[in-house]
Amino acid sequence: MKIETSNYNIFLTNDDFSSFKNNIKNVYNGSKIFIVTQKNIYHLYHEKIKVALDEFEIKFVFCKTKDFKNYKKTIDILLKNKIQKHHLLVSLGGGVVGDLTGFIASTIFRGIKYVQIPTTLLSQIDSSIGAKVAIDLKKGKNLVGNFYNPALVLIDLKFLETLSKKEYNSGLGEAIKMAILFDKKLYEEIKRTIFLNINQIRKIIEIKLAVVKKDPFDENFRKTLNFGHTFGHIIEKRGKYKKYLHGIAISYGMLIALKIGNKLSLTDKNLYNDLYHLLILKGLISPNNNLLEYDKFKKDLIYDKKITDKGIDFIFLKKIGVPLIKNIRIEKLWNKLKYYHQQFLEKLK
Ligand SMILES: NC(=O)c1ccc[n+]([C@@H]2O[C@H](COP(=O)([O-])OP(=O)(O)OC[C@H]3O[C@@H](n4cnc5c(N)ncnc54)[C@H](O)[C@@H]3O)[C@@H](O)[C@H]2O)c1
Repeated sequence: MKIETSNYNIFLTNDDFSSFKNNIKNVYNGSKIFIVTQKNIYHLYHEKIKVALDEFEIKFVFCKTKDFKNYKKTIDILLKNKIQKHHLLVSLGGGVVGDLTGFIASTIFRGIKYVQIPTTLLSQIDSSIGAKVAIDLKKGKNLVGNFYNPALVLIDLKFLETLSKKEYNSGLGEAIKMAILFDKKLYEEIKRTIFLNINQIRKIIEIKLAVVKKDPFDENFRKTLNFGHTFGHIIEKRGKYKKYLHGIAISYGMLIALKIGNKLSLTDKNLYNDLYHLLILKGLISPNNNLLEYDKFKKDLIYDKKITDKGIDFIFLKKIGVPLIKNIRIEKLWNKLKYYHQQFLEKLK
């Protein structure tokens, strides 16, 4: 199925990549394609991709991470293989490959055409949608980046068949976040679903597109997508980006945000339990996990990117489908947190 945006098209399919060739031909009339990917993805898919894109001359280029070293290294390989401004760059991989390739596309020769082929659930519903591309620096994630539209996004659910449960769940955490933020019906539907189906994935993509359309440069409303991210990022970092994958970390982060929302009387009281049980049911969080005891995160909170001179832009949820951005003074937030935590401990006695 085709999802149109004002700048490019997204094709969402489950047909063994058979529509890739014609869709690419509609946006690119050259013959040479440079595909940036990771070795494991190459081994799983290069034969099928070669068959699907048999009319093109393909050069595969490998990357590992999306740091500055890999950015430079990948550009060097592309130049060594004589990439030119009129050639097409394609990302074949998850958010890491997509973000890196998109950033390369936006900077090499001051911008060349590129196509995203996202292969993880997270990249299919999130990172390939919305034009954000970036690389990580030693000082932090996504510190250098751009807004750069792809010419096309080709999503085939076939890729998800080889994805590990851990990686799938990470994407599912993001999917649940989108649903609870903006679509009650979808949220309830996900409760009854084992694997997201193509219509549910389409809905999540459309939600993200609608948010991006309202605020393309992340100045206001798009910040609502950061629900669960204030504490989620801390948890992700504490696990050295390996132990708790992004969607898992933000699952804990969403629960913490609901707790704080309860304390400040900003959140529907039933939401915490509802989401908690859903996340347990889906295996995204484990019960009795001390990650919800956010007391110990105080030190890390001050490094949050959403901190302004006045405080922190915190994303609350009033009720399902109604997010709220509220700037809170850090001390105020912390006093409330401490208070709530004490009450929580009292209850356990
Ligand atoms: N640009 C954005 O708007 C945006 C939004 C959210 C996240 N991100 C970025 O996305 C990145 C995370 O992306 P991710 O979760 O896709 O992780 P990832 O790209 O690291 O992929 C996860 C792992 O799955 C493997 N893999 C990919 N596709 C596979 C497949 N089909 N079968 C088997 N294995 C496969 C990868 O090789 C990798 O080892 C982060 O760097 C994050 O900053 C960007």
